Parts: sequence; structure tokens; C-alpha cells
Amino acid sequence: MKIEIRDEENWKVAGEIELRGTEKDGSQAACCLEYNMDYAEEKTKYQQTRGAFAFSCLFDVDFAFKETKKWPSFLLDLFPQGAALKYVVDHYRIADQPENYWKIINTAKLSPPGNVRISLPEEEPPRKHPGFDREEVIEKGPDFLEYMVACGAPISGTTGAAGAAPKFLLREDFSGKFHGEGVLTDSLTKNCWLVKYPRGDRKEKINRDILKAEKPWLDIAELVGLKTYKSLDWDKDCLFVPRFDRVPLSGGIQYLGMESFYSLVDSTHFGSRFRHKTYTDALYLYSDSKEEDLVEYLLRDIMNIALANNDNHGRNQSVLKNKNKVFLSPVYDFAPMKFDPEGIVRNTRWSENEENFLDEAALLYQKNYEIDSSLIKHQLEELWHKFLKIDLKGYDFEHDLITKLQKEIQTLDQKISRFIGNHQ
Ligand SMILES: Nc1ncnc2c1ncn2[C@@H]1O[C@H](COP(=O)(O)OP(=O)(O)O)[C@@H](O)[C@H]1O
Ligand SMILES: [Mg+2]
Repeated sequence: MKIEIRDEENWKVAGEIELRGTEKDGSQAACCLEYNMDYAEEKTKYQQTRGAFAFSCLFDVDFAFKETKKWPSFLLDLFPQGAALKYVVDHYRIADQPENYWKIINTAKLSPPGNVRISLPEEEPPRKHPGFDREEVIEKGPDFLEYMVACGAPISGTTGAAGAAPKFLLREDFSGKFHGEGVLTDSLTKNCWLVKYPRGDRKEKINRDILKAEKPWLDIAELVGLKTYKSLDWDKDCLFVPRFDRVPLSGGIQYLGMESFYSLVDSTHFGSRFRHKTYTDALYLYSDSKEEDLVEYLLRDIMNIALANNDNHGRNQSVLKNKNKVFLSPVYDFAPMKFDPEGIVRNTRWSENEENFLDEAALLYQKNYEIDSSLIKHQLEELWHKFLKIDLKGYDFEHDLITKLQKEIQTLDQKISRFIGNHQ
């Protein structure tokens, strides 16, 4: 299987992965991978062997032939999930079983978030299509893909983003029409979007309310000083998320690398759970702004608790990568998932009961990453002060969510006061 990387110029075949083990072992099957000679020569010549030009933080560009005991973890970032996986199961009639994972990954010939993809087949250029109005995108909801197919629209790239909610990666042209990612050329693209629809039953109010809350949730994240990208648009049950890995610049699009924390920690089991330490260790190892990113990571998780975002797993956190640097991505998928009808429990924790999680985190940061607790205290004080000043009722979301949040916020407030008091 050939793997492409988008560098500053183009998508290039950067290397190959082959299965060594048997397909029946799913993502636990041994593999081998290597970068192509030409690619490795070019990148080593300019000392561009990591960051956005590598497959993953785990595999710097070099000339070595690499054997792995299981799939390279970055392949799971390219694997169809949620609504996209359902599409593969229905459309290609491949059951979602480990023995079919290799076949399934081989269907993922589109451009997912980030700048690494499985090589696309040499195709005729996509048929010209005028694109879709914003209203059409909104109204068609989860049926939009079928609709696009029925209209003869080229669909490459439309389902490449993982996660449970039905969603499309779309591009908007300068006349406001929407096209599939990979269809519209960069120079004709005004904005790149991830468009999300409510998960589960669309008519179930809570699914809609949770998705709708993503916009105010992110606005609050910005207000308290977390790293965010552009504000989201909520439009008739449909969430328009501006993509931070495809940045419109004058005359083109900058492609950033993006790698999930699952990939960074070499996880090849879907839906794994880890302690925060596993992720912070990886951030310490790979980030080029260690202190800044680690403190941000902790503050983010405090806001996860405050705002009931229990779904803090390793695919809802990523690093971005440019040609020189690896750094924590802006906040995304930030929503009151605790209230999801599927009953989502807090995924990643500092310890089992987290009674004293702030002290535990501060100790970890001091001992393992040389980050002083006075720095944490100072930034936490600032964040919490800003948060308590926010009038949550002033935001457009279902206000019974606020009532449900109150207890969590009070308990957290006590923990924060105690922590700050202990570190005077
Ligand atoms: N603003 C964004 N820019 C680029 N990629 C994003 C952005 N938000 C999410 N993603 C990518 O899309 C995937 C799915 O989006 P997410 O919001 O997590 O959906 P879900 O609620 O279904 O989990 C994420 O895992 C991430 O890889
Ligand atoms: Mg997600």
C-alpha cells in the first residue's frame, strides 16, 4: 500500500507499507514500511525529516527498512470510523471485523484530516459539478452523500474524518458553493470545512442539543484563554467547523500535518483508554513547545470537567505539524458529551477517582517535565477567574444543560480553590 504525504508543493508518494502478518490479525498484524529513496533523499538533503514531512512522529524520514510488530499506529488515523465506516460496510459489503481491517483501510482512498493519505488510484479528473448550496448541504443531512452520488457529484474526500457523527469534509468556492474535499482545486477554494450533523437519531433532541452546544462550548474555550481556531457556525441542525489543518492563504491552501494522540502513543486498538500520563509523556517527547503545550493540555482537561466533555479520548486530541514544528492542535470536538444518550463516561483520567487530580498532575509535571506548579497555579487562576465571570445563560444552547453542569462546576471550584490555596 503506497502512502502519500502532502508537502509544500504537492501530494507525493512518500513510501509504502506492507502486511507481513496475516489479515486475520486485523490491526495487530505485523507490517513493514519504508520511505521511498527519492523522497528520503529529498527530505534528508533539506533536513526536513520530521514534522509534517514524516508519516508520523514515530517514524522520522530515513532510508531504513522498518518492521513493526503490529500496524503502524498512524494507519488508524486513516481508518474509516463511525458514519464513514458504516458507509464502507454498506457500500463495499465488507463486515466490520478485524480480519477485514486491511481490506477496509484499502478502501480509504481519500484525503482525511492532516497531510498523510493512502495513495489515490490514478483516476480521470473528477467530472465537473457546479457544487451545492449551503442550504442543500444543511438539508440533506446524513443523506447528503447518497444525494451527491445520485447527482453524479464526485465524492472523494467527503467522508474522510473519523468520529461517530455523520460528517463531510467540504470545500467552499468563492461563490459560496460546496464541493467534496479533493474535488475543488486549492486556488478555487475560499474555505475548508468539516460539516457535522447530529449523531444517533437526528430527531432525538439531546443529540441535536449536544452538537449545537459545540459552538458556545468552543466560544467559552476561547474566552477562558485556551487555544482555539475560528468560531463555528450552527445553522439549522448542522455544524460548520472551519478546518485548522487546511489554512486558506492568498493564492492557495496551506496543508498541516495532523496526528492523533492515539497514534502518538502507538495505540492500535480502536477505542483504547489511557491515563493522561501516557499522552503527556508523548507530548513531552514530540512537542516543540513542551511547556506551553503541556500546561494548555492540563487546562483543557480542567475545562473538559467543567463543561462535561467526557469524550476526551486520544482521537479528540491531536498535534499539528508544519515543516519545522510539532505542536498541540486547537481545541476540537468539545461538547457536553456526558449527557449523550449513549452514556459516555470520562475517557481519559489522571487517576482512578481523580479526587486530588490537580495535585497529582502538578506533581507529575514537576517531576517528569520540570514544569513548576507555580506556573500551573498562575495560569489556572487566570483561566478559572475568566470562567467564573462568564454568564452561561447568555449563550445559545439548551439551558437545562447549565443546571446539569452546576454540581460539577461547584466540586471543581472547591478543588481549584484548595489547590491554589496549597500553592500560595
Ligand atoms: N477544526 C478541525 N480541523 C481539522 N480537523 C478536525 C477539526 N475538528 C475535527 N477534526 C478531525 O475530524 C475528526 C472528527 O471530528 P470530531 O469533531 O471529533 O467528530 P465526532 O464528534 O464525530 O467525533 C477528528 O477526530 C479530527 O481528526
Ligand atoms: Mg471526535
